[in-house]
Amino acid sequence: MAEHVYEQDNYGQFTQDEVETLIEVGALLSSDLHMEELVEILMEQAVLLVGAESGLLWFGGEQHRMTPVAAYGLDGDSVGLLWKQIASRIESTTVRGKPITISTDCGDNGSLLENVSFAINQPVNSMILLPLVSKGRSLGCLQLINKQDGSEFSNRDLRLCTTFASQAAVIIDNRILFDKQEKLMLSLIRALSSALDARDPYTQGHSERVSQLALLIAKKIDMDQKEQEILQQSALLHDVGKIGIRDSVLLEPGPLDDEKWQIMKSHPVIGAQIIQQIEPKSVMEKIYDGVMYHQEKYDGSGYPYGLRGQEIPQVARIIAIADAYDAITSDRPYRKAKSPQEALAEIKKCAGKHFDPQLVEIFLDAMGYQENKKTSS
Ligand SMILES: [Fe+2]
Repeated sequence: MAEHVYEQDNYGQFTQDEVETLIEVGALLSSDLHMEELVEILMEQAVLLVGAESGLLWFGGEQHRMTPVAAYGLDGDSVGLLWKQIASRIESTTVRGKPITISTDCGDNGSLLENVSFAINQPVNSMILLPLVSKGRSLGCLQLINKQDGSEFSNRDLRLCTTFASQAAVIIDNRILFDKQEKLMLSLIRALSSALDARDPYTQGHSERVSQLALLIAKKIDMDQKEQEILQQSALLHDVGKIGIRDSVLLEPGPLDDEKWQIMKSHPVIGAQIIQQIEPKSVMEKIYDGVMYHQEKYDGSGYPYGLRGQEIPQVARIIAIADAYDAITSDRPYRKAKSPQEALAEIKKCAGKHFDPQLVEIFLDAMGYQENKKTSS
């Protein structure tokens, strides 16, 4: 068997098993996965689909050089060598846009098998190359190496893989688009939070620092990646309602009198109203909790609603701790910043009163708090 180029005419009918497998794989890839998870699963499923020994998923195409992004059954050295030796060959195959099988007796492409064989340090008798194309745009290439049973890849294998690859390409393309939108959203959120911080020189960088500290706690409690992103965005925007607080209150250099304090206390509700205006609503709804409830206190003495304990959403309980730490360790016009150890001691004192005691423990641990260390700066 020589190089076999897949043509639409070869499509034929799938068996029921094949259709079921393709539907299962499609559903798996359509779930809400990050790009890193998506490429790993995609690679694994492609290998399993045709009983390949190993495989490599390449991203790149018209404007970008081909780069391996996921491998199955290959060690790091092999992937590195393949990248060095065959990236341009993969690129030219991808540009042709047709899936192909390659076996040992196929002329020019035989040398490609030899190169792969050298790189992975084992004989290679058969290979499939599947360009990933979505909306006429080349995204990369799926490379499958050797059948586990020692035979060569068949027309059936190529047919199955081609359908799989066309599904996968659309899913990858959607993921790229979604990631771009998320990046745009995060940059807008950052712009909004830094615009707020810029109004008051004493709180410059506050939102960014609070989000970093909040993430520190999130990682310690093994919060999943999606929830961490929401927490990060919520922390960046937690004080966004202060945009609606007039300068004479926000920039007041001393402690606030009762009237001004009441105005200042409206910032979570104003912030939540701002958040509700932003689209997409499905995303902003999740960010809302941190903005609306970050001034609630564990013992019910906070505002705006006097929620207590677990009634306060977790994202808000985390932000409350990060917010307090950053406030205590920052200079204010009417007081000097305290040292990290002093701030941590103060937060520890408020565990169970202002803050969730379990989260305080986790935060103190993450910040390397030492009880007996002298706390004066
Ligand atoms: Fe804050």
